[in-house]
Amino acid sequence: MLGNVAFKEYKKSNDIHGTVLYPAVMVAPVQKSILSNIINNNEISSVFDAFHGSGTALYEAMEISPNMHLVGCDINPLANLITKVKLHGVNSNVFNDIEQLKKLINEPKQIFSLSFPYMEKWFREDILDTLSIVRSAIMQINDDQNRLFFWYMLCDVIRKHSNTRSSTYKLHIKEEVSILRIENNVINNFITSVETNVNKFMKKSDNFILYKGDILKIMTGIENRAFDISITSPPYGENATTVTYGQFSMLPLHIIPNPDLELEGWELDNYSIIDSCSLGGMNSEAFLNEYEQNLIKPYLNKISVSKHTKITRFFSDYFKFLKELCRVTDKYIVLTLGNRTVDRVQINLTDISRDFLESQKFRNINQIQREIPVKRMPKITSMVYNKPVASMNHEYIIIHSRN
Ligand SMILES: C[S@@+](CC[C@H](N)C(=O)[O-])C[C@H]1O[C@@H](n2cnc3c(N)ncnc32)[C@H](O)[C@@H]1O
Repeated sequence: MLGNVAFKEYKKSNDIHGTVLYPAVMVAPVQKSILSNIINNNEISSVFDAFHGSGTALYEAMEISPNMHLVGCDINPLANLITKVKLHGVNSNVFNDIEQLKKLINEPKQIFSLSFPYMEKWFREDILDTLSIVRSAIMQINDDQNRLFFWYMLCDVIRKHSNTRSSTYKLHIKEEVSILRIENNVINNFITSVETNVNKFMKKSDNFILYKGDILKIMTGIENRAFDISITSPPYGENATTVTYGQFSMLPLHIIPNPDLELEGWELDNYSIIDSCSLGGMNSEAFLNEYEQNLIKPYLNKISVSKHTKITRFFSDYFKFLKELCRVTDKYIVLTLGNRTVDRVQINLTDISRDFLESQKFRNINQIQREIPVKRMPKITSMVYNKPVASMNHEYIIIHSRN
């Protein structure tokens, strides 16, 4: 069904997906190749990504078919902002807005004060001052669409100038000497980013819905067989010990004013709350029926008992999600998955997901293994009890169709 999926020569920096950093993103040409294959050979009018993250799959679906009905969901308000900007683009006034922005930055008349918990821990004082100038300038741009694009372009500049290490997605303070060595290029980096990337945001979908919320709640409101294709990459374990999407996003989320974010109200309560509320997080229950228990038993048997609740909690949410995904999908399900390791036991999420989907009458029609180029991920994805968790080096794609 698919030709070369290695796409080793693909460079994100050449397209829209390289304009912002987000953890564990899908590889755009891989998703595009899978989507084109299905879309060109079937009657497809809607694409759903239940964990859209930075919007890779939804954007690629729009590229293939601009009128495609696109629906996505993510619990992280930063993922929501990023995907919204990718799908909505900028409007023709953007070049005037860029000129106005530069003026407001170079001759600031109004500076809105910036205040959030532990901000002096995460930024040097002079950097906070410069960020306040840029932030105040963006706040004075009236056009909603272009203003959101400017927030989007500020995200990487914020991270690059913060006191957190770039070797992990978790917030992890740098050593004092490294903090003193950070060069304050906030303004130059921001303006350059805006000007060099604006032309990548000229495409626009008029047919998308993004839900900001917990997928398990959102899906209960979605009709049976609402989507022709569901394509997604779910988290491969609970965020705290795999990929901390929430912590990665907190600094920009504190700097972007609330009215420009989709917030339910709890997201900024503390630095780890988004991760705790994500799939399999602290708030999830740990309940599995007999069939589900049997799917994970071979792994649990080899893992220390103290870690069972954590794993069961994740799979309890994950199976609920898969079941609902089968209900809302009419034709195809495409999952990009990673197999994590706990106590040196590799949990084969790919096999588990394939068996579960088969049990829900979605037949496996293809499975692809793909090496993740080393450069794409930090060497460690998170820290657990102050020990680094290594990133994975393979991803697997399974494609299922309704029987
Ligand atoms: C592997 S990432 C998706 C990356 C995406 N495919 C991309 O290319 O950018 C998984 C996403 O699931 C989201 N997530 C985790 N738990 C969630 C939940 N309960 N409801 C909705 N989204 C959730 C995370 O915020 C994260 O953005």
